[in-house]
Amino acid sequence: MSNQFDVIVIGGGPGGYIAAIRAAQLGKSVACVEKWKNPNGETVLGGTCLNVGCIPSKALLASSETFEHTAHHLAEHGITVNGEVQLDLAKMLARKDGIVSKMTKGIEFLFRKNKVTWLKGHAQFTARNSAGNYQIEVSGEGAAQTITAQHVIIATGSKARHLPNIPIDNRIIADNEGALSFDSVPKKLAVIGAGVIGLELGSVWRRLGAQVTVLEAAPSFLAAADDGVAKEASKQFAKQGLAIHLGVKIGDVKTTQQGVSIAYTDKEGKAQTLVADRLIVSVGRVPNTDGLGLEKIGLAVNERGMIEVDDQCRTQLPNLYAIGDVVRGPMLAHKAEDEGVMVAEVIDGQKPHIDYNCVPWVIYTAPEIAWVGKTEQQLKQEGRAYKAGQFPFAANGRALGMAKAEGFVKMLADAKTDEILGVHIVSSAASDLIAEAVVAMEFKAASEDIGRICHPHPSLSEVMRETALAVEKRALNM
Ligand code: FAD
Ligand code: NAI
Repeated sequence: MSNQFDVIVIGGGPGGYIAAIRAAQLGKSVACVEKWKNPNGETVLGGTCLNVGCIPSKALLASSETFEHTAHHLAEHGITVNGEVQLDLAKMLARKDGIVSKMTKGIEFLFRKNKVTWLKGHAQFTARNSAGNYQIEVSGEGAAQTITAQHVIIATGSKARHLPNIPIDNRIIADNEGALSFDSVPKKLAVIGAGVIGLELGSVWRRLGAQVTVLEAAPSFLAAADDGVAKEASKQFAKQGLAIHLGVKIGDVKTTQQGVSIAYTDKEGKAQTLVADRLIVSVGRVPNTDGLGLEKIGLAVNERGMIEVDDQCRTQLPNLYAIGDVVRGPMLAHKAEDEGVMVAEVIDGQKPHIDYNCVPWVIYTAPEIAWVGKTEQQLKQEGRAYKAGQFPFAANGRALGMAKAEGFVKMLADAKTDEILGVHIVSSAASDLIAEAVVAMEFKAASEDIGRICHPHPSLSEVMRETALAVEKRALNM
């Protein structure tokens, strides 16, 4: 094997593996360095997303939703289950692990198909030589080797942020990794952080029978979401029994024989203690740049530990790019993937572009929450004149038939031009429905465009059309 490549990608998560495949499609010789070890000690591709993120969490969300639905929601369909609905947690976790393994093996196949060389181990820069090529040492598996390339893409991702004095053992106190693999359902589960992970994994364990209490430092719930959507979601979560305390200040956390006790001050300033069997700490993620040897090539990280990049993910050094969770912007797999494609195309001399305003967000709770573009509070803050339409799933036949009639779609459009500025959904199928809004916004569509498009009947997608019509106060079914 030659040690010289056109492109070296550091990290084989959704940013890195997609960048490697796209660069290979464009005729480059590509190596991708990845060191992730799964619990069996095998080195695997896929990064956070496939191993301990998007894919396993969605598998458990689907399994736990099926469990809850079977145990509690069949009667309204006239279905009676004789006998107790039982949970085989080990089997549920094994199903999740099987899906992860299938997906990570799938990337190995894609690498072979596209002739991407996968080098297992830890990559660190050692120098930039006189020809301007970057030298990278790969170590940790077998003999260390040095490889070089003119173009390097850093896609090293992120890891869970931990809080001082709250040591994670991934048994009693867990971050996302442990919380995806608890070996029993805790009777009482505490969660610090009512962000995306807290809500998704809190929902998983609540549906499986845990009494879940979420402690959140911020005074408002889901501040990044549209206020109306956050309010509706908060109402639905409270109905399901997910207790969320806002405005708290976490104090001492002690592990005991029974579990864990969390001292905190509530929003009224009163001292409280929450005792639980297990605790999930989900307070955000920090970029991975440890041991990357950035100092050897003279690249600094910013005060948040991120690598600074421009709109096309170029760092301050020539032919050196960084993408995904290790750079600015939302820490989302599809954003990392799009940056991977963009950078491979930049290296190829093309002129790709990402409209970051059109990157959708999804929280996979029940109901799901999804949005793209601006929230109503952002438009108000910007002083932009807008009009809004909203339509409930309760007025949609398909949603009623599916017994998924909670939630709504809300559309915000420019008051003069009618260009769609933001779409916000709280509904069981929000993750799929939002794609129509993303397409519309990428094409700079007006709300009238969606209102004039034929949508299948009966379908949840009709709510998107009715919402668009509601922007001009002419919804037909309400
Ligand atoms: P990563 O996926 O973190 O991959 C980086 C890779 O680089 C890792 O495999 C790491 O081992 C490797 N690496 C790091 N340093 C080195 C080195 N020096 N040498 C060699 N290899 C190295 N996003 C969504 O869009 N949708 C979701 O539903 C979703 N769910 C999530 C659920 C959870 C529980 C979590 C934790 C995250 C979730 N995310 C989700 C976020 C998503 O996982 C990340 O945004 C995404 O994985 C970022 O991709 P990345 O390629 O930048 O980094
Ligand atoms: P997050 O940023 O979504 O939420 C963290 C929450 O913790 C915030 O609400 C914050 O106010 C709170 N917090 C911070 N410090 C605290 C403290 N000391 N005490 C109490 N609360 C505190 O981070 P999270 O949930 O850890 O997820 C990390 C990232 O992973 C997300 O931002 C997202 O980018 C990605 N992710 C995406 C998913 C998706 O797309 N569906 C699913 C899961 C994760």
